[in-house]
Amino acid sequence: MIDRSIFKIEDECYQCHLSFDVERMIVNKKITSNGRYLAANKNDKLIAYSPIKIGKRVWMIAVSAPFSEVTKLVRSNLYKIMLFSSIIIGIILGVTNFIFKINKEKMEAENRALYADKLEREVQERTYEIKQEKQKLDDIVSAIGAELSVIDCNYNILWANEKVIRRFGSIKNMTNTCCYKTYYKRKDICPQCPARDTFKSASVSQSELKLLNNDEMRYYQITATPIMDSAGRVVQVLALTRDITTQKRQEQVLIESERMSAVGQIAIGLAHDLGNPLTIIAGSVQFCLQNLEPPDNVKEYLEVVNRNATAANRVIKALLHFARPSKGILYTPVYIVELIQKTLLLLKSELGKKEIEVKEKYADEVFKVSGDRSQLEQVLVNIILNAVEALPPKGKIDISLFQDERFIQLKITDNGPGIPEEHLDSIFNPFYTTRVRGVGLGLSISKRIIEQHKGKITAENLASGGAVLKIFLPVAA
Ligand SMILES: Nc1ncnc2c1ncn2[C@@H]1O[C@H](COP(=O)(O)OP(=O)(O)OP(=O)(O)O)[C@@H](O)[C@H]1O
Ligand SMILES: [Mg+2]
Repeated sequence: MIDRSIFKIEDECYQCHLSFDVERMIVNKKITSNGRYLAANKNDKLIAYSPIKIGKRVWMIAVSAPFSEVTKLVRSNLYKIMLFSSIIIGIILGVTNFIFKINKEKMEAENRALYADKLEREVQERTYEIKQEKQKLDDIVSAIGAELSVIDCNYNILWANEKVIRRFGSIKNMTNTCCYKTYYKRKDICPQCPARDTFKSASVSQSELKLLNNDEMRYYQITATPIMDSAGRVVQVLALTRDITTQKRQEQVLIESERMSAVGQIAIGLAHDLGNPLTIIAGSVQFCLQNLEPPDNVKEYLEVVNRNATAANRVIKALLHFARPSKGILYTPVYIVELIQKTLLLLKSELGKKEIEVKEKYADEVFKVSGDRSQLEQVLVNIILNAVEALPPKGKIDISLFQDERFIQLKITDNGPGIPEEHLDSIFNPFYTTRVRGVGLGLSISKRIIEQHKGKITAENLASGGAVLKIFLPVAA
């Protein structure tokens, strides 16, 4: 083939080539340094060439190789590259996944923290709302003005409102103690306990109770309401205790005033019907005694008549005094120490008869009230005479005075038998007497006088025996 033109090449030259198109393109510089051709054996080949000048001739050095051989290397490299790339991509993906997972966990943790924060805030808000609601409820419970407690079936206190706590000390000391022990200082359950009925009947029950509170008799109304479990059993009782002392006193005042007006009617009738005949009897007997000089045994009878007529007259006078409408108080400054001493002087002979010893104990104060001296003296006489009558010979009376910002307290104590507990409530009622010769008006008159002076009178017994009468009078300005 050497020295022949590829443009004029004969058929015999096509033994290894199908055509010389590639070579022609190389010669025509249509392809530059490499190309691809189909060999006669149908092999797809790659060709690379380079012109070399040897002498005057320019030679084309060409290297051809089957396309598959060339690409095999490239392919194997490509596979390696692809494998390497896959590994790198895999690593990248793995790392990315790992980072993504970490980030996801971090985000989840952050979300959880945010959620926890949100929850905490919500819990705080709800807690605050619940506290507010509880406060509101507590305020309502305190504003009820009644004492509320919850007790279980063993009468143990489970809960109590502020009002109860204020009266009986801290809730800690009270919780799980028996109500009758803590509230009423009793060893056994109170006989009139409404909670007992409620536990039995599963319905609301009510009762009234009388208690000595700070030296003062007070009345309470207790209402027990059942608290049931889901099975309908009464497991606890809500006890509502209302101080009804004022209401009770008003009732008593009403009853007393009704009784007074009835007494007034009777007194006026009696004074009319008995007063005059009694005065005539007493006068006539006195006339007989003075003018007839009767024998001793007759004189004795006449004196009996005279004494009894006089006593009957005293009752009539006391009745009239009681029934007479009050003239009103003539307010003047009254110094109580001076008043007591004057009264004791008046009663000297009565006290002397039984050799009663009177002890006075006063703080260093003025003890001045504004009131009606003679009426207050009458009160002192009534109380001291009652003590004298109750005392055995050589008995003792203690008179003491205390004063706080508002009230002067006068206390008259004796060491006699005291007033039977069951009579304590009645002794201030008109005509209530346990004495054969008593009229039963001394204390009721005294009570009326003290109340007109805007004061208060109470009676109680000493644990050691003996009665204590206390008079509270407002301090004069
Ligand atoms: N110091 C006392 N000790 C014991 N009992 C007393 C005492 N003071 C009063 N009492 C009781 O109170 C009752 C009523 O007293 P009150 O002074 O009202 O009437 P009275 O003394 O019986 O009669 P009077 O109208 O003559 O005073 C008395 O009958 C007595 O039972
Ligand atoms: Mg009396």
